[in-house]
Amino acid sequence: MTQKIRVLVNGAKGKMGSEAVRAVGGAEDMEIVAQTDMGDDLAATIKSSNADVVVDLTAPSCAYANANAIIESGAGGVIGTTGFTTENIQDLTRKCGGRTPAVLIAPNFSIGAVLMMHCSQIIGRYMPDVEIIELHHPAKLDAPSGTAVKTAQLIAESRGKGNVPRGTSEPAARGERFSDIPIHSVRLPGLLAHQAVIFGGEGQTLTLRHDSLNRGCFMPGVLLGIREVVKRSGLIYGLDNLLFSNPE
Ligand SMILES: NC(=O)c1ccc[n+]([C@@H]2O[C@H](COP(=O)([O-])OP(=O)(O)OC[C@H]3O[C@@H](n4cnc5c(N)ncnc54)[C@H](O)[C@@H]3O)[C@@H](O)[C@H]2O)c1
Repeated sequence: MTQKIRVLVNGAKGKMGSEAVRAVGGAEDMEIVAQTDMGDDLAATIKSSNADVVVDLTAPSCAYANANAIIESGAGGVIGTTGFTTENIQDLTRKCGGRTPAVLIAPNFSIGAVLMMHCSQIIGRYMPDVEIIELHHPAKLDAPSGTAVKTAQLIAESRGKGNVPRGTSEPAARGERFSDIPIHSVRLPGLLAHQAVIFGGEGQTLTLRHDSLNRGCFMPGVLLGIREVVKRSGLIYGLDNLLFSNPE
């Protein structure tokens, strides 16, 4: 029988971390070898548990320090914690080099949301006029969401030169512009995480919509990350790189 992937979950007492412990525990090819949270010595526990992969779902304030601890330990990493700066990612990419196993940093583990962004990029080439509505629970601190901003950036990249939306100089009610694409943020009780990307063309509209109904939607992405980092090398930024490319 093939050996199970030994997984440590950091932030195991949190909403995402406890969900990850359940998901890994239910996967036949993995086992939980340790659970850590605030106050625990992550580096020492990675060593004592001999973990193959560390899943980090903690807080922006400790994300960079935890990523460094994981890289220094030699274990693989599946990091969903938000709050990395561009400089952090560049620095961690350099530190990872070409080492195997890989370290994955995924700002969004939801495969549906990643597909929504991927398809938006394709549609944007043909229908450059687009607006994004993102809807979240009221406890979400940032607005617009990172996923909405990333979607706008991807569409803007794919539109290319000479294929830009109509000019605008509109009031705030028309949304905040990212890469020239209006984003509208809604915060209401009853919502979790939702996004609609609405493309408009001559006599037609095309709407992509993704709804996260519970935190279970992130778990297939976490499990995919665990299975892939043990086979891959270096730092991988974004789940899209696992979904839309194959290892050599
Ligand atoms: N990538 C994704 O798809 C995705 C989806 C949802 C949330 N997130 C992110 O995941 C992180 C956790 O989200 P959550 O909703 O579970 O939050 P949470 O507050 O419910 O849980 C965070 C846990 O981390 C622990 N923690 C805090 N600092 C720590 C430290 N220094 N060392 C070890 N543990 C520490 C807390 O005690 C808590 O148990 C956040 O950054 C959130 O933005 C990512």
